[in-house]
Amino acid sequence: MTLAALNSPIALTEPQLSIIGQQRLEGELHVNGAKNSALVLMAASVLSNEPICLHNMPDLTDIGTMAKILVSLGVGFRLQGASALLNGGGLIRHNPSYELTRKLRASFFLIGPLLARHGVAQVPLPGGCRIGSRPVREHNKSLRAMGAKVTIENGVVSAVVEGNHGRLQGCAIHLDCPSVGATETVMMAATLAEGDTVIRNAAQEPEVADLAGLLQGMGARIRGAGSSTIHISGVRELHGADYEVVPDRVEAGTFLIAAAATRSRLHIHPVIPHHLGAVLAKLEEVGCNIRQHGQGITITPGALQGCELCTKPFPGFPTDLQAPFMALLATAEGDSVVTENIFENRLQHVPELQRMGAQIHTHGNVAFLKGVARLSGAPVTGTDLRASAAMVIAGLAADGVTQVAGLDHLDRGYTRLEERLQAVGARISRISSAQPTLLAA
Ligand code: UD1
Repeated sequence: MTLAALNSPIALTEPQLSIIGQQRLEGELHVNGAKNSALVLMAASVLSNEPICLHNMPDLTDIGTMAKILVSLGVGFRLQGASALLNGGGLIRHNPSYELTRKLRASFFLIGPLLARHGVAQVPLPGGCRIGSRPVREHNKSLRAMGAKVTIENGVVSAVVEGNHGRLQGCAIHLDCPSVGATETVMMAATLAEGDTVIRNAAQEPEVADLAGLLQGMGARIRGAGSSTIHISGVRELHGADYEVVPDRVEAGTFLIAAAATRSRLHIHPVIPHHLGAVLAKLEEVGCNIRQHGQGITITPGALQGCELCTKPFPGFPTDLQAPFMALLATAEGDSVVTENIFENRLQHVPELQRMGAQIHTHGNVAFLKGVARLSGAPVTGTDLRASAAMVIAGLAADGVTQVAGLDHLDRGYTRLEERLQAVGARISRISSAQPTLLAA
């Protein structure tokens, strides 16, 4: 390669975010509806032949993918601003295609409502993903306990209820682990089953309680969602409902961590503080001042200290905020230890943070950090959704220019992140593949 070629602008092959770091952020950030709630609430539309209207829907590529899957099954879908009207009355198919479902793991959660409504469902296995193997054993085991014959062939899970006029039978289910997806799958399936279902060792995540809120609005009889034991009494049919998606605790947490990492004061709203309990406690432990007022949180960071952090099911520290928090700990004074307990392959952001000067070494699922005074900007790649958010946070805090690739992941979970961060003072912009740019500042 000639010297001239080396000096010429590099044409990007994919869009990237370009961030000039070390800007103090200031102002307010609005939190959108929760992606993980919205996706499962959309799946619940299959349970009724009347329309449901979901408000406060986030504008995300994952939501678009779920809408396409539902439409392919015959469900009506119309978006009006942040409200989505879903009409399960047109449901004609029970077998979403692999081409669509492979893009979205949450598509597997459709197996419960499809089976409950029509007594038959065929949903492709979601397979593994970058953060780990993501099994669905608990989902399938539970549906079998409710009377379905479940087989796996050619990468597709087929479930059918052969007797009982195609109706599932309520029963007692003890989950081996408190899987969010399995809890939601069983909850939806049990709403239309005959008799009572009890789920023990259920996931207690706020998204499970949000799903129960919609299902209750549709006429389902559910008690205990949000605790480790959930009781569901099956009904013959569910009706339409209007429901507002809960604020996204992961997006709110990402903004709070971005504030701390850039040593900035930000006001974040709306937030349900109880959904962020473990995150707020960690932010306080590392030296941030947190003030809650109603559905708003103001964060004022002080000098940051390292800490120990372990991911756990709710109400523990969420795995989805582990990578963003590690970006913050990279510049906190002293030592930190981060243990990822939920997904076996969720430390892929470590090498990217190291490229920015972070001092981290890993042993198995544990990362040991020694805080550095500052990170230095570099071209980096977000390897999954939350790792991408961590790269943005690291870039906001770093000296110089950081170029973040992997935006297809980021856009799955954050709506126009760069525009919202710009509004509070970040110097961040999206560079499309059509715009050649210099990778160095
Ligand atoms: C959901 C969230 C995801 C979050 C995760 C954990 C959605 C769309 N996604 O994913 O953002 O990171 O919860 O809070 O809501 N497991 C088994 N066997 C099973 C099922 C799960 O061992 O049959 C294990 C998994 O390997 C993992 C843990 O349980 O270690 C949690 O997984 P699960 O709660 O099922 O995650 P998802 O529902 O897929």
